[in-house]
Amino acid sequence: MNSPKVVVEGLCKVFGSSPKEALAMLAAGATKEDVFARTGQIVGVHNVSFDVKEGEIFVLMGLSGSGKSTLIRLINRLVEPTAGKVLIDGRDVASVPRSELIALRRKDMSMVFQSFALMPQRTVLSNAAFGLEVAGVGRKERETRAMTVLEQVGLAPFAEKLPAQLSGGMQQRVGLARALAVNPSLMIMDEAFSALDPLKRKEMQNVLLELQREQQRTILFVSHDLEEAMRIGTRIAIMEGGRVVQIGTPQEIITNPADDYVRAFFEGIDTSRYLTAGDLMQTDAVPLMQHSPQIDASSVAATLNGSADYAFVLDSERRIRGFVCRDALGSASPQLNQIECIGRGTPLDDVVERVVASRAPLPVVEADGSYCGSVNKTNVLNVLTRHRGSHV
Ligand SMILES: Nc1ncnc2c1ncn2[C@@H]1O[C@H](COP(=O)(O)OP(=O)(O)O)[C@@H](O)[C@H]1O
Ligand SMILES: [Mg+2]
Repeated sequence: MNSPKVVVEGLCKVFGSSPKEALAMLAAGATKEDVFARTGQIVGVHNVSFDVKEGEIFVLMGLSGSGKSTLIRLINRLVEPTAGKVLIDGRDVASVPRSELIALRRKDMSMVFQSFALMPQRTVLSNAAFGLEVAGVGRKERETRAMTVLEQVGLAPFAEKLPAQLSGGMQQRVGLARALAVNPSLMIMDEAFSALDPLKRKEMQNVLLELQREQQRTILFVSHDLEEAMRIGTRIAIMEGGRVVQIGTPQEIITNPADDYVRAFFEGIDTSRYLTAGDLMQTDAVPLMQHSPQIDASSVAATLNGSADYAFVLDSERRIRGFVCRDALGSASPQLNQIECIGRGTPLDDVVERVVASRAPLPVVEADGSYCGSVNKTNVLNVLTRHRGSHV
């Protein structure tokens, strides 16, 4: 396992002249509002800890004012922490001398913001190459590299245009290209797509996901939009009033929201779309028995044990050979019925279709074909009513 790209430990930021009292209040459980009412200090971030792993897209999500941008500025040290620390590649950012900070930000942490402030009098190519220019890369090389990233974001034909000749969405891609051109080991994107209309936003998300499939960068992505977070996040940290209230994969957060604040983000969103067979399967609902050339009724009866109607039959590598059912108990050698397996990552809609069409529960298998659980009609109904609510 690689060591994490970013480690954040007990990070706090209190804006104001006397943060000590605020920190003490926070440690005793006070909220951001309590602290402001009593001390006039503003809590930006409180006691935040997490790791960002190499190659993942880590999303910070939360309402406006919850501390996302402050947290990011603490990470690239545009803001000094009141307490706690940040390690990048194992190195404490606080120990980086001022003189190296600018280079560190430029090389190792490319920032993409909501508004890119493209330079209107420069071509798209020159804008995309700007980060490299600042870093002192020669003209020929920076234009070659900028051209490569313009190709990646689908803007190569527009290289010689001026920003004003491009649509808003395309301008946003130029900003993305500029950030990518310096080949940063960490990309920080603060609400980078938030100003775009939903269609353009989705398009940019796709551009990013596409690039990510090829290059696997470490990306810290801020969003206040749960659907965006779900689509692109490897993991999501949800922030409220300066604190992180939950960290998990999109599936973990959907299936197990920490509190009502987290749940409120799901309102009006069909979260079931993000679930897969693995999220709704049960691991011990269907009894299992070893496959043998001659299945005998007594071992089936023992496996079903009076209560179950079906049992899956597995070989020694935990691959499904079929199922037996209670109806067959009357015969001396019960029939082994064929059954189709469902891959763990199968999306809910496909699962629903197949479960509804099947009499027996369906086995769920890992990518290597080994058995990991089962889904039946009740599991599907539960998840649909829980996640789609009145939309069903
Ligand atoms: N420079 C600052 N001085 C005082 N308060 C600030 C400053 N920057 C941010 N804040 C406050 O910190 C809190 C978190 O802000 P911010 O990190 O911008 O939230 P978000 O990015 O989630 O919208 C807010 O209450 C904001 O008003
Ligand atoms: Mg912000």
